[in-house]
Amino acid sequence: MKFFIDTANIEEIKQAHLRGWVDGVTTNPSLIAKTGKSREEVIAEICQIVKGPVSAEVLATQSEEMILEGERLSQIAENVVVKIPMTEDGLIAVRQLSEKGIKTNVTLIFNAVQALMAAKAGAYLVSPFVGRLDDVGTQGMELISQIVQIFSNYSLTTQVLVASIRHPLHVLESALIGADVVTVPFAVLKKLTSHPLTDKGLDQFLKDAGLR
Ligand code: E4P
Repeated sequence: MKFFIDTANIEEIKQAHLRGWVDGVTTNPSLIAKTGKSREEVIAEICQIVKGPVSAEVLATQSEEMILEGERLSQIAENVVVKIPMTEDGLIAVRQLSEKGIKTNVTLIFNAVQALMAAKAGAYLVSPFVGRLDDVGTQGMELISQIVQIFSNYSLTTQVLVASIRHPLHVLESALIGADVVTVPFAVLKKLTSHPLTDKGLDQFLKDAGLR
């Protein structure tokens, strides 16, 4: 399973990259807005640090504008993946961009047939949002099981990127299900490495060695 970091914060990306946690990056308009910089500036900066896929989201909602915006974003760096919302216009853009060899990540997916239609249009990645489903009382991880099963049934090459991750259990369950990618906020990535018994055990070893 690949690990992407779900942030546009350059310092977080640098810190996570240093620790070997970053196979790619996902951004969205809300994350970009928090940086106070332009999307193009932030994406270019991220692509200098990370060589894996870096998702940059279009703001247009009409297919023709989405395609033009996607083409512009893809020119920032060769590892840019154009993020497109799961709408009919979005799928027109996905199909045309993928025919031009531009990779896409279809975002805001909340059921398995949306994921199937995005794959059919030629998406490179699909982003089902598990945390936002949990928030409304629906089991987000059940959606991941369904999509992984459907893509396996038909040998679809579109990768399942688990998004809207809120805690380590989302990561554990994604790995058990066999999702291709998880995109994880920095704060959750940090939680994945720690355990109180690790800290306690290390403390005892250092005490026994006379170092504490
Ligand atoms: C990433 O691709 C998504 O935009 C992101 O994971 C959404 O997360 P949120 O539901 O915590 O905003």
